[in-house]
Amino acid sequence: MKITIIHGQNHKGSSYHMGRLLVDRIAGENEIAEFFLPRDLNHFCVGCYRCIENDADCPWHAQKKIIVDAMEAADLLVFTTPTYCLAPSAPMKSLLDLTFTLWMPHRPRASMFRKKAVVLSTAAGSSTAGATKGIAKSLFFWGVPKIYRYGARVMAMNWEGVKPKVKDRIAKDMEKLAHTLGKNTSPRVGIITKLLFAAMVAAQRSDSGSSPVEKAYWQAQGWLGKARPWKRA
Ligand SMILES: Cc1cc2nc3c(=O)[nH]c(=O)nc-3n(C[C@H](O)[C@H](O)[C@H](O)COP(=O)(O)O)c2cc1C
Repeated sequence: MKITIIHGQNHKGSSYHMGRLLVDRIAGENEIAEFFLPRDLNHFCVGCYRCIENDADCPWHAQKKIIVDAMEAADLLVFTTPTYCLAPSAPMKSLLDLTFTLWMPHRPRASMFRKKAVVLSTAAGSSTAGATKGIAKSLFFWGVPKIYRYGARVMAMNWEGVKPKVKDRIAKDMEKLAHTLGKNTSPRVGIITKLLFAAMVAAQRSDSGSSPVEKAYWQAQGWLGKARPWKRA
């Protein structure tokens, strides 16, 4: 199974270790593409909207493309982030902003409708829900049909400070999740995604999208006709 893991932090703390505990149980090193943010994408969206017309016109296209290509090539996407102020880290949020044209109202990628994803976060004491939901929301709008979220309260500032009992629990939970993900089942696209997609088809057909370029993209995919990204041709 090909995995792309994206860490919303450069350092190898609790969130990083949780992610590695998971992916190392599923795949060998040569099947894992790994990115650290901001190391591998050190920019914010400047709101120029050039990507609406042409992805390659984004000022940060070169860095972004490497990550998006790796995500497209993967069967499983894994995101890790520390919970910062009840939300994902700023570099992770920046990646989501810089990939907003992958959302269904714009130019979603067919491959996303066939992937599974896992969103992991650690927090010192509060809930991790704000961080994991913040990422999962974008993945849903990219069309990813199966998204697992998992968070751990580690009561520590780094992995070394996490008590053995907490580490044990995380390791067991990652083992269970790895087992679930390892089952060779294709994720099924849910009814809400299908309804949303149908609404986007209607919007593009009636020229209510953001740009004629988007409509041409939907047309080229065959989605303004009967083709659907979750159905193999
Ligand atoms: C800027 C910043 C904001 C934080 N915000 C929260 C928070 O809202 N809730 C919480 O429980 N912990 C918070 N923490 C603690 C981290 O979430 C916690 O230590 C986490 O496990 C760190 O993960 P890491 O080791 O992967 O960096 C914050 C830490 C920092 C540096």
